[in-house]
Amino acid sequence: MALIGVFDSGVGGLSIWREIVRQLPHCDTFYVADQAHVPYGPRPLMEVRRFAEGIARFLIDEGAQVVVLACNTASAAALHYLRATFPQIPFVGMEPAVKPAAQNTRTGVVGVIATPATFQGELFASLLERFANNVTVLTRACPGWVEAVEAGALDTPETEALVRSCLEPLLEAGIDELVLGCTHYPFLRTAIERVVGPDIEVIDPAPAVARQTGRVLAARGIVPSSRHVGRHRFATTGDPARFRSMVRRLVGVEAEVEPLAWTSEGCLLVRGA
Ligand code: DGL
Repeated sequence: MALIGVFDSGVGGLSIWREIVRQLPHCDTFYVADQAHVPYGPRPLMEVRRFAEGIARFLIDEGAQVVVLACNTASAAALHYLRATFPQIPFVGMEPAVKPAAQNTRTGVVGVIATPATFQGELFASLLERFANNVTVLTRACPGWVEAVEAGALDTPETEALVRSCLEPLLEAGIDELVLGCTHYPFLRTAIERVVGPDIEVIDPAPAVARQTGRVLAARGIVPSSRHVGRHRFATTGDPARFRSMVRRLVGVEAEVEPLAWTSEGCLLVRGA
């Protein structure tokens, strides 16, 4: 049996989860949303690291054989730390897709949108150093976008106005590649594409992350039976009923959602609200 643990601050990581399930239909998954703490983006990296450690420990205790950080912010804050803390478990992290954007650009100007914490991490600095030597990379944090997705306001006039005000400076600067550096943003894709028009390539890293997850499992010799139909569990530190309705709306799955709670030390997840 192959169990893939997946987590995010909220519903955003479902954009990664749905691609994992599409590519690896025989694997089981366990998705944890830390909605008690969403959004992660404006928080200090050390605080997000503490949350990520608690969730990773929980998923490993539940039997996860690989843990996917379906969250750029948590990856920026904690990926290296989690690998050092739990060396027996492989972690798949996320980084904004600067590399393909830099390869594909014709104008030489690419835009990256992500949370403030993602831009602060060493991971992003090293990405720029490795892949952005001959191109201009413009970064924008997008206040309010994560909250809009969490609230289910995916394609309202207010959300489109929020998207437009954030992307307009990038458009004026001549970007032709737009990297979605936060897993919540693919759920705003309709509004984003309406604002940027057809000439700008919008890069969503979900397929690449799912492929990497498959490679990691294969490298460990974890090959699920092709007769097994993947089973999927969901849990949140927020409101299970709300999360359940968002799972239905965003990825079309009817799921039971288990309640989780943080202990008073703030670093340990336990069952039950
Ligand atoms: N979806 C997350 C990310 O990819 C976190 C967003 C947030 O909680 O601020 O960065």
